[in-house]
Parts: sequence; C-alpha cells; structure tokens
Amino acid sequence: MVYLGSGCYGGKPAKIMMKFIKDNNFKSRNVALFGTSGSGEGFECRKMENLLITKDASIKGKFFCKGKFLFANRGRPNDEDINDAKEFAQKLKQN
Ligand SMILES: Cc1cc2nc3c(=O)[nH]c(=O)nc-3n(C[C@H](O)[C@H](O)[C@H](O)COP(=O)(O)O)c2cc1C
Repeated sequence: MVYLGSGCYGGKPAKIMMKFIKDNNFKSRNVALFGTSGSGEGFECRKMENLLITKDASIKGKFFCKGKFLFANRGRPNDEDINDAKEFAQKLKQN
C-alpha cells in the first residue's frame, strides 16, 4: 500500500506530487490518498485519484480534512483529524 498526500493549492495538489505520480509506475499498485485544504472538500485527492487511474493504480481509499488557510481553520488539522487519519490508515493496513 502506497500512501500519497498533498495540500490543495489553487484547487490542485502540489505540482511536485502530480509530477511524482506522472513519473512513476503505479500499475496494479494499491494506493491510499490523503489531503488537507481550506475547503476540506478533497479536490486535491480527486485530482490525484484521476491521474492515478490513468496509471492503472488501484485506489483503496481517500481521507481528507480541513487545513488552515490564511485566517480560516486555525488549528486544523486538529487532534480529532489526526486520529481520524490514523484510523483510516490502520483500517487500510488490515485489508
Ligand atoms: C498558496 C496557497 C493556495 C491555496 N489554495 C487553496 C485552494 O485553492 N483551495 C483550498 O481549499 N485551500 C487552499 N489552500 C489551503 C491549503 O490547502 C491548506 O492550508 C493545506 O492544509 C496546506 O497543506 P500544507 O500545510 O501541507 O502545505 C491554499 C494554501 C496556500 C498556501
């Protein structure tokens, strides 16, 4: 299982993460995605997922939550977010 994550910048994951996905072989690879963003909507995960699907990766799950953005969402991700992320990762590990 490969875990890949990014913040959201202008509605997209970090360029370096998209380059990493483009430059590597993900054929039949199990991938879990995580992300943080001001909106907490997971657009960064969806964009990574879309690219990974073109690389024949098998997406096993996605976790996303709010991250601080300027003056919004101070303290996020918070302890609860981190615990949720840990649970997400642990559950996938058991599969
Ligand atoms: C330059 C910049 C652009 C951002 N653009 C967006 C955005 O388009 N949508 C959004 O929801 N959050 C946006 N954010 C908020 C980040 O996604 C959020 O702070 C994220 O948790 C950053 O993760 P990092 O601390 O790992 O860089 C932006 C933040 C920065 C610094």
